Amino acid sequence: MTPKPGLFLARVDTLPNPGAIVVDFAEGESRLSIVVTRRGDVIAAFRNRCPHAGYPMERPDGRVVIQEGRFLVCTAHGASFALESGDCAGGPCNGEALERFAIELRDESVFIA
Ligand code: FES
Repeated sequence: MTPKPGLFLARVDTLPNPGAIVVDFAEGESRLSIVVTRRGDVIAAFRNRCPHAGYPMERPDGRVVIQEGRFLVCTAHGASFALESGDCAGGPCNGEALERFAIELRDESVFIA
């Protein structure tokens, strides 16, 4: 499922800084899970699917693991991704990246562009 332009993801003031949240959508049989990250003024959105083996980023309890205030860590096998770019910074996905979605900021909120 591809997110539609204008899809609301989060209010900026609900994003941990630095940190990330997972936002899930369902439409009929289709599912879409997006990770919204923030580090300082940089906010980004990525498909919540690790390029290594396709697992979601968060732990089973829903928590997202952030390392050194800079990296999002896939809890399946420990790959880490830069919060700003989604580029793999270590682990079993070197050279790969999370699929990034363009966003726009409007009214203190984050939307798919
Ligand atoms: S699925 Fe993410 S590190 Fe393996």
